[in-house]
Amino acid sequence: MAEPDGKPFLYVVVCAAQIAVDVSRLIAAARERDWEVGVIATPVALNGFFDTAAVEAQTGRPIRSAWRSPGDPRPFPPPDAVVVAPATFNTVNKWAAGLADTLAVATLCETYGLGVPVAVLPCVADALAAHPAYQDSLTRLRAMGVRFGEPYSGDPGEDGTRPEFPWERALDLLG
Ligand SMILES: Cc1cc2nc3c(=O)[nH]c(=O)nc-3n(C[C@H](O)[C@H](O)[C@H](O)COP(=O)(O)O)c2cc1C
Repeated sequence: MAEPDGKPFLYVVVCAAQIAVDVSRLIAAARERDWEVGVIATPVALNGFFDTAAVEAQTGRPIRSAWRSPGDPRPFPPPDAVVVAPATFNTVNKWAAGLADTLAVATLCETYGLGVPVAVLPCVADALAAHPAYQDSLTRLRAMGVRFGEPYSGDPGEDGTRPEFPWERALDLLG
């Protein structure tokens, strides 16, 4: 469902990885592509991983992280698409297993039933990505139609600098 101004609504789910500090770049790119954006952060991500006041100013909406109270109106319209960036090991595994213990994961679990496109940019260290449960999670989510960007470990390269996190790739993956 589009917003009253006609723009489609994108949920940006932010997990607790260090690269989240730059999530404003994704929001800016999404707005340039004419998405209206609402951010849903995991509770850990909300705790110092990015500048929440700046993101709220950028989107013009409060960041969601906890469930609303019964009887309160839904703070965001339903999503037309969902992006998870950065996606942590923890959130990917919980999502695949259907363990909806945060609003962020519960929202992701619902996307399958809603049938909206979902794009994910994982930020997971190679040592964690090798875990069989993570590989099973990727297989399961891909089979559900979830679109993944290339693996990104967050580790510095040989020259000591971190490769660029491909924020705009998330939007490209939505097609
Ligand atoms: C500074 C810092 C950086 C982290 N970076 C990552 C990361 O890049 N990827 C990851 O999967 N976990 C990372 N973690 C661990 C997660 O924050 C931790 O697993 C957390 O429980 C994830 O919660 P969430 O999935 O609900 O956001 C990091 C933790 C800290 C303290």
